[in-house]
Amino acid sequence: MEIKVCIGSACHLKGSYEVISIFKNYIASHDYDQRIVLKSSFCLGKCSDAVSVQVDNEKIFSVSPESAQMFIELLGQQVIGQQAIGQQTINVQRVSK
Ligand code: FES
Repeated sequence: MEIKVCIGSACHLKGSYEVISIFKNYIASHDYDQRIVLKSSFCLGKCSDAVSVQVDNEKIFSVSPESAQMFIELLGQQVIGQQAIGQQTINVQRVSK
């Protein structure tokens, strides 16, 4: 699984580096380095929904520093096949396909 966190201006101002830090800590603490690739990205075109996070070059989610932990935990569960995130409703809003 590949996760891209936008570090464009709007997302930076809304806390993209804090989101990245939360994701990094989760990945490291669960030894998911081989399963989840975390990357930064320039503008994903969803600035009004910052912080934009794209999963596997498809879905773009709006994630905040407050919802980042829950978001990455759901992705982690998906990685280990326990639960799909696609239909989850948490504090994260899917903003595109
Ligand atoms: S700056 Fe992040 S989506 Fe545009």
